[in-house]
Parts: sequence; C-alpha cells; structure tokens
Amino acid sequence: MKILSIETSCDETAVSLIEATGDFPTAEYKILGNALFSQIDIHREYGGVFPAVAKREHAKTLVPMLEKALAESGIEKQNSTVNSTILQDIKLVLEREEGLFAQLQNFAGEYERPDIDVIAVTSGPGLEPTLWVGINFAKALALLWNIPVVPVNHMEGHILASIFSGSHLAKLEFPSLSLLISGGHTELISSNDWQHYEKIGQTRDDAVGEAFDKVARLLGLPYPGGPEISSRASEARAANLPAFSKLPRPMLDSKDLDFSFSGLKTAVRYAVADKDLSEDEKASIARDFEDAVTEVLLKKTEAAINTTGARSLILGGGVSANTYIRNSFLGFFTKEYPELSLYLPDPKLSTDNSVMIALAGHMRASAALSPQESLSISADGNLSLSERIIS
Ligand code: KG4
Ligand code: ZN
Repeated sequence: MKILSIETSCDETAVSLIEATGDFPTAEYKILGNALFSQIDIHREYGGVFPAVAKREHAKTLVPMLEKALAESGIEKQNSTVNSTILQDIKLVLEREEGLFAQLQNFAGEYERPDIDVIAVTSGPGLEPTLWVGINFAKALALLWNIPVVPVNHMEGHILASIFSGSHLAKLEFPSLSLLISGGHTELISSNDWQHYEKIGQTRDDAVGEAFDKVARLLGLPYPGGPEISSRASEARAANLPAFSKLPRPMLDSKDLDFSFSGLKTAVRYAVADKDLSEDEKASIARDFEDAVTEVLLKKTEAAINTTGARSLILGGGVSANTYIRNSFLGFFTKEYPELSLYLPDPKLSTDNSVMIALAGHMRASAALSPQESLSISADGNLSLSERIIS
C-alpha cells in the first residue's frame, strides 16, 4: 500500500510518500519520498508562530513539497489533462487557501495520477487555520486523482514515530505508556492495545515545549526555545557552573499524574527580573530549568508506570528531541526498570514530520473516506486521543 501523507498542524509543511508492504503492525515500510519545510526562520522574527502567517506559508509551500516528495520517489513530470468539472470542484475546495488553487492547477497539468492508495492528513490537534490548509489540500488531491483520504491524529503520529526504526515498528508490548511532550501537549497516555488510549495525566497549564519556549524568551534567546535552552544547559553542565536559582518542582508530590509548568516559568521570570544577565548566568538558569522539568517528568512517568503496570514506555513529541531528557529517561528506566522496553524517537522524527502521519494513516487505512466523503473532514484544534480518565 502506498500512502501519501500531509502534515500542517503548526509550522512545518511536510509531505511524504511511503510504501507499506504487509499489514499493520508488522508491515515493512519504505520511505520513498520525504519533504519537509520548516517555517522557523519566518516565525523567529515574530518570536513565535502566528497562525495567519503559518497558514499563508503552508499554502505557498505544499505544492513544492509534494513535487519534492514525488521527485524523490522517482515520479517524473508528464503532461496530463484534467477534467474541467473536477477542476471546478477543486477550486471550491481551495477557495480559502490563497494562491493554492493556481499552483495545484499548474501541477495537475504536469503530473499523471501516481500510484497512491490512500492520502493521510493531520486533522488535529494543532492550529485550526493551518490544519485546514493541509486538509483542503488532501481533499483537492483526492478529487484530482480519485484517492480516498484518512484523517489522522497528530499525537498518534508522534507515538508511532517513536517506535519506528526506519523500516519497521517495534513489536510493542501492552500495556504501554506514552509520555507525549510537545509545544501544545504534555500528557500521559496508557494503552491496552493499538488505537486504544486512556489519558491518565496531563498539564494543567503550559505544555513542556511551551515552557521551554517562554523561558527562552525570558532569557532573550530566539524561538523556538527548546533547542536553545538545551544547548545552553549542556554548556552549563560541562562547565559545572554554579546554580543561579533554586527552581521549584511543580506538583512533584501531588497524588495525581498531572503536571504544571506555568509556575516554573514564573519562578524564572522572578529570578531574571531586571537583571542584566551574563551568558554564564543564562546558561545556569537554562540548566536549572531543564533539571526541574526533567525531574518532574521522570517522577510522574515512574508513578504512571507503577499505576498501570506498563511493559513499554514511549517518549514522543517535539521535546523528546531534548538530549538531556532522553539521556535521563534512558539512564533512569534502564537501571530501575530493566524489564521495561523504552522507546525514543529518532531525533529526526521527534519534531513534526509527515512520516509519522503516514504510519498513523497506514494503521487507520480501513477508516479511509472516499473522495466525496472526505469533503466532510474538518480540522479539530483540540482533537484528543481519548477523553481524560479521572485518576
Ligand atoms: O511536536 P512539535 O514539533 O510540535 C508540536 O506538535 O507542538 O514540538 C515542538 C516543541 C517546541 O516547543 C520546541 O521548543 C520543542 O518542541 N523542542 C525542544 C527541543 N526541540 C524542540 N524542547 C526541548 N529541547 C529540544 N531539543
Ligand atoms: Zn507535534
């Protein structure tokens, strides 16, 4: 089965073409084409992602990314004629996506229908205006080539990315526990089987990635803050710099599996208030912050493992690219829970990408909608893997 996947939930415009041989979850996967454009340089100027700006950039970049993914897959340009009724339908679907129809119309005249069985597209969670661009693009391609569409949950994609070796999914043992940490999410998800999720803990305010980004801003570091904080923190560790501030460990001893990171950010704000910080002091604060976050994540995850009896632990989402968090999880769980299988995503698949959307699309392929039915797919910024289970 060949899957074309599209991801536009935040500030990465990504399109992949993946071939799955065999059934989920034992299929062999081949990444035929994988194109990704990060809008980070555009958003850095504004210090964060503005949905309207991101939406415009996705509309500009989707066709070039599709062409790139097709070219990598060995699919070449060929003159093609498109039925004008279909073009009228596509025009309606892309009515709100500035400039995208004109680009797609050109593209349609240059490519024959490729051998693709299903189109997977992120339908949530994320920024609704940007999700819509990807969804409408998927619908337009579905009409153009008569291919079904499967809507995908972005967080489910992160989970699958973490257990993906590049050609196979790990043979996951259930119950599994996923700690998902990204720019918009911090949640503990327990699963007794594929596609079954129970949310057993979550942040009550800021997500971990959001806290990294906000603390970076307080320190005068550019967006996105995660990688910046991470490199400063490792400098501080290497130089053994003294602690600058004793930061709190929010909710460390609460009896539930919830998190809170806004207090930590406020503590950093007080620590840096009106001070002209040296580079060493900034590095120290970055390290103090990373230490505090990691300690809370470890402790809550351990509690969740003890509660659920999980046999595998999956760390996923953009913040799982963080070296210190990865090493701390590896060090702690390998030593204290040697029976537990721990899965960390390949750093290249930690942050948003479309390979993970293709994997989720393969898992959900039987739920694909015909091109006409796909017109009912809508963006859901708050799409959840499961309703919260009260713990
Ligand atoms: O999953 P992701 O790419 O997008 C969302 O779905 O939100 O996650 C992005 C988040 C951002 O907040 C970014 O600062 C954070 O992941 N991030 C990191 C690192 N790389 C990205 N946080 C800490 N350390 C990193 N190395
Ligand atoms: Zn993400």
